[in-house]
Amino acid sequence: MEYDFDTILDRRHTNSEKWDVKPNELPMTTADMDFKTAPEIMAAMKKKIDSGAFGYEYPNEEYFNAVASWYKTEHNAEADTSWMRFATGVIPSITACVNYLSHEGDNVLLMEPVYNTFYNSILNSGRHAFPTQLKYDQSTYTYSVDWDDLEEKMSNPLTTLMILCNPHNPTGYVWSRDELIRIIKLAQKYGIIVISDEIHGDLVLTGPDYTPTFSLPEDCRQNVVTLVSTSKTFNVAALHAATGIVPNPLLREHFTRAINKYEVAEPNLLAIPGTIAAYTQGADWLHQLKQYLLGNRKYLEKFIRTNLPQLHVVPGTATYLVWIDVSAVTNNSTALAQKIREQTGLIINPGTYYHGNGSQFIRINIAYPRSQVKDGLERLVAALNQ
Ligand SMILES: Cc1ncc(COP(=O)(O)O)c(C=O)c1O
Repeated sequence: MEYDFDTILDRRHTNSEKWDVKPNELPMTTADMDFKTAPEIMAAMKKKIDSGAFGYEYPNEEYFNAVASWYKTEHNAEADTSWMRFATGVIPSITACVNYLSHEGDNVLLMEPVYNTFYNSILNSGRHAFPTQLKYDQSTYTYSVDWDDLEEKMSNPLTTLMILCNPHNPTGYVWSRDELIRIIKLAQKYGIIVISDEIHGDLVLTGPDYTPTFSLPEDCRQNVVTLVSTSKTFNVAALHAATGIVPNPLLREHFTRAINKYEVAEPNLLAIPGTIAAYTQGADWLHQLKQYLLGNRKYLEKFIRTNLPQLHVVPGTATYLVWIDVSAVTNNSTALAQKIREQTGLIINPGTYYHGNGSQFIRINIAYPRSQVKDGLERLVAALNQ
């Protein structure tokens, strides 16, 4: 079956966070997609709605088998279903872990620039966001780990947790297996637990696949909580469903306590059927989606090379979020984003949201029908050439 990614959705007045904007505005911001989810997922949800039975639920065996077989077929990664726990989202799980697995005043390590909501989980819990800066190479527009600084930050006795974004939002970088092993082994040396947020793992558009951390060699996964979800993959963020995969039995007990204590362990009425349908029937839809997103990304790269050569696209291979170096134009991406919005109605995320060197970057979401991507880029060029 061929799926439709070209039809523009009218998401105004649908409670969409992203689309609560003025009539002429085009928001290319929050990480959800302007495509309908897979029809197979909608059918499973409709069936559930039609049953009319909406009492308390638990995640059944079929749910965990669906997660396990998805990771086996999509990523060649084995996970025992006994390692898995259901949770109502990746961020709720992270917040629960920060609260349960660390103490007030502890340092939680991050690699900046990074997904902004991590700071909420850390700061609202009275912990310190403790960043190591990814090293930026201005000749290749790529980032890499500053290993000396990472180790120095890990060796601080107050550092007890690290939140890893695998693949990385906003750069779209896919960590190699060797890099993951090196990060996790270093964390072990200093007694640090690594929370690996793998919500973008299914969205590697080209090149080598991402490595699920639960599938690393046994000695490299003892201090790791892996968090996965269909949320980004199938555009079902409001489903509020995620899975924690924790191979170490003791850490798994702690994770279980954490999500129960913070009451983020119980599914809503659509979470189980929606997730099972996604993982068991959604592969074709996802493979076509990735081709479409890759086409959007190539279109954007060519458009920027041709029309905005002063900008540089950071060459990430994962996510539908594009991280663009605007340092030739500004040192203040917040002001730039505001100017673009006022002049053209295009809304993009200023890189400042993501800390680190983000003041010289913008982030654009390209998970839209191509005609809207074109519209957005034409607005961008109009604003920057004024
Ligand atoms: C890296 C990352 N983690 C987590 C989330 C949100 O996860 P959830 O909706 O499951 O809480 C996002 C959404 O943009 C994200 O980019």
